[in-house]
Amino acid sequence: MNFETLVQRRYSVRAYQQVLPSDAEIKAVLDAARLAPSACNRQPWHFYVVRSQSAREALSAAYPRPWFATAPLYIAITIHHDEEWVRTSDGHRHGIVDASIAAEHICLAATAAGLGTCWVCAFDVEAARKALPLSSDEEPVIILPIGYPEEGAAVPEKNRKTLAEIVTEI
Ligand SMILES: Cc1cc2nc3c(=O)[nH]c(=O)nc-3n(C[C@H](O)[C@H](O)[C@H](O)COP(=O)(O)O)c2cc1C
Repeated sequence: MNFETLVQRRYSVRAYQQVLPSDAEIKAVLDAARLAPSACNRQPWHFYVVRSQSAREALSAAYPRPWFATAPLYIAITIHHDEEWVRTSDGHRHGIVDASIAAEHICLAATAAGLGTCWVCAFDVEAARKALPLSSDEEPVIILPIGYPEEGAAVPEKNRKTLAEIVTEI
């Protein structure tokens, strides 16, 4: 699959088959995250593979939507605030930028493997903290459900602004 096709095929999958991705597929998407760039190469991220029934139920409590619970697996991405790069000119912290790049690497790698994902940030942070074994400087930032899209699922039309609306040449 070339890059243009990959980007076209990635979409937010909100219905999954009850089939667990293979260990090799999970490793491939995690390795795509590992190779993502990060500010000053700090790699302030951690990836929790949430696979057991009890852990999936605990994490689902942080985002109680019926579709979310259909995912056979989640990758919860956290950042360690102790490790993130901070821009000196304005103090802007870059951990969430780094985690976001890694998350999209996962989404694209999953798409390349025929899997579906969906970014989820609208979760209850305290409930996510309870579901994950976090250290004191660690913040959960993105949850990615991962699995095979339900049978017959099609890529929806992309509803996006035009280039003319979002690009300015100066
Ligand atoms: C930072 C971010 C947070 C998001 N959070 C959620 C979420 O909490 N729940 C959800 O269903 N989708 C969430 N999405 C998915 C977006 O709604 C989706 O990417 C957007 O509507 C474009 O659709 P597409 O991904 O199918 O191309 C999020 C996406 C991003 C990038």
